[in-house]
Amino acid sequence: MPLPESFVGRLSLPVVSAPMFLASTPKMVIANCIEGIIGTFPAANQRTIEGLEQWIVQIKQALADFEQTTGKKAAPFGVNLIVHKSNARMEQDLAMLVKHKVPLVITSLGAISTVVDAIHSYGGVVFHDVVNARHGRKAKGAGVDGLIAVTTGAGGHAGSLHPFALVQELRTFFDKTLLLSGSISTGAEVAAARCLGVDLAYMGTRFLATKECQVSESYKQLVVNSKADDIIYTNAISGIPANFIKQSVTAAGFDLNNLPKPEGFDIGTEMAEAVKDPAQKKPWKDIWSAGQGVSAINNILSISDLAAQLKQEYQTAICGINSINQK
Ligand SMILES: Cc1cc2nc3c(=O)[nH]c(=O)nc-3n(C[C@H](O)[C@H](O)[C@H](O)COP(=O)(O)O)c2cc1C
Repeated sequence: MPLPESFVGRLSLPVVSAPMFLASTPKMVIANCIEGIIGTFPAANQRTIEGLEQWIVQIKQALADFEQTTGKKAAPFGVNLIVHKSNARMEQDLAMLVKHKVPLVITSLGAISTVVDAIHSYGGVVFHDVVNARHGRKAKGAGVDGLIAVTTGAGGHAGSLHPFALVQELRTFFDKTLLLSGSISTGAEVAAARCLGVDLAYMGTRFLATKECQVSESYKQLVVNSKADDIIYTNAISGIPANFIKQSVTAAGFDLNNLPKPEGFDIGTEMAEAVKDPAQKKPWKDIWSAGQGVSAINNILSISDLAAQLKQEYQTAICGINSINQK
């Protein structure tokens, strides 16, 4: 299993709790890491650079305390950085991640060797998310340590390729850590990802319906009540294709059969506006994203209970596969 050296012996499950705009916080990250799941959050979830520093210090302190009091190892944590010209805070955020030697940095949109080199300078690990092999090759060229295959049905800005297809393509040229994103909501699906040759499952939507997640109760309940058919894949809301829960799209005043043409892609401004708490309905804040994996989510759990459930489902699935192999 090609995991980065610094991750070995720290995970209880091959799972990353993926970064989610406006949803992931230090509370979630800490709860995940002490369960042996890699916890992450987007840097953009903090409005200021000072706030970002406070969050990183808070997480590092909590995990150090956990390790000291229990004698156990916590999973590493990660911060997601949007590497795009519209992200005005990119350089400052990067400097902060380097200053505090954040163990894992997940880059989105741009794979740039100077960013990768900066993270490598202190022994940090860089995973980069891609929706096709062309972007995967570019990220490999930039020196990333892992590729996240973002496939069809994923929450957030999803891809359109089937996971079997994208994983196989990426594996033809990439032998470092491979992650799979898209509709993974159960331990059996984590096992399925491992069977495909994936090293780590990258799960977002399942973690929306957790007690620690900071989205509203109505959002969590809608995730629980929704099925795959309730998800719409459109570029009308965020400029590039993303999955949203239809009910929240209509509640924001959109006609599902007559969605507007996208106004262009400016993720930095979009994120900055959404965290400002404006009166106007905004993507992510009022128009709620989730992936097709909502189908498998029937309850809101604490992260500790979810981790126990995922481990049990994972073991059951792995044992089932082994028993078939023995016949
Ligand atoms: C509400 C929401 C917000 C997201 N925000 C981000 C983000 O800020 N940065 C990012 O790289 N991915 C973001 N994602 C994508 C996730 O990191 C991950 O790729 C995806 O949720 C995995 O698919 P799944 O939701 O089907 O498990 C978001 C996903 C959701 C559901």
